[in-house]
Amino acid sequence: MVDHAWSHRHLLSIADLSVADINTLLGKADTLFDEARKRPKKSEALRGRTIINVFFEASTRTRSSFEVAGKRLGADVINISVATSSVSKGESLLDTVKNLEVMRADALVIRHQASGAPNYVAKHTRASILNAGDGMHEHPTQALLDALTIRRHFGTLSGLTVAICGDIVHSRVARSNAILLGKTGSKVRLCGPKTMMPRDAETLGESATVHANLDEAIDGADVVMMLRIQNERVYGPVMASTREYSRTFGLNARRLAGAKQNVIVMHPGPINRGVELDTHLADDVRSVVLEQVEAGVAVRMAALDLCIGANTEIAPS
Ligand code: NCD
Repeated sequence: MVDHAWSHRHLLSIADLSVADINTLLGKADTLFDEARKRPKKSEALRGRTIINVFFEASTRTRSSFEVAGKRLGADVINISVATSSVSKGESLLDTVKNLEVMRADALVIRHQASGAPNYVAKHTRASILNAGDGMHEHPTQALLDALTIRRHFGTLSGLTVAICGDIVHSRVARSNAILLGKTGSKVRLCGPKTMMPRDAETLGESATVHANLDEAIDGADVVMMLRIQNERVYGPVMASTREYSRTFGLNARRLAGAKQNVIVMHPGPINRGVELDTHLADDVRSVVLEQVEAGVAVRMAALDLCIGANTEIAPS
């Protein structure tokens, strides 16, 4: 079989990727995942390259795993935290990016509160742009690392039933996952209170269904993915109380009994234990939350390598 060639210099959204692109990236990440378990050695693939993490929103996993990923590939990785950068002095996003570009950054990893910010920047720079989460829009590397985790468990991404539960409307994770899983032939069930469900929810994945009842969404599911309420993006009242929310939409072992016997429980983190996910269940053998984080490094290594490799605008190192 001839390998599908990767042609994207940016990774902006799952919507931009074909199924062949997704499989190419996941195939590469899968190999890197196994290699890291055997020998976490540095490679020379991105030696001489400079990657800059520019994060306008809080992050633990995404930022550190992009950093580990870049360093494992031999690149120089720099982190810019907006609180201590000149953005706090009023500099625009584009000016910040232009300044980083002349330092000969090969890739900029951007997290921003505005949906579409990475797409906008990508039109104005020669560097590769990797979207590390933009507002309520997309979080492509999260969906890819979730897909890698699912694929490693079930051997496939097609024919599965995946329940994604919680604050769907404000979640870029839900959006990217629904699009990816729909493309690869899994059934996506989106579940949450009406106040947390987008009006066009059914159009998110290719075969998405909408559920206001958690037990109904979980029934016979292979994967249950729980989401945090995105309080930073919630402006009006969306629920009566946290207690009421966790009673109605929180996942615990009793409710999970309605899923398939070999179900896996996922969460992108950060988990609000006892709200959307019971604290014991978060540490249960069915929970794969730490495997997701492990897969994140492999997926980000693959993404950085593929995007920088496809970028003909930047000089070779
Ligand atoms: C998610 C995000 O930032 O969108 N976190 C992550 O990247 N792992 C989800 C969240 O913050 O709830």
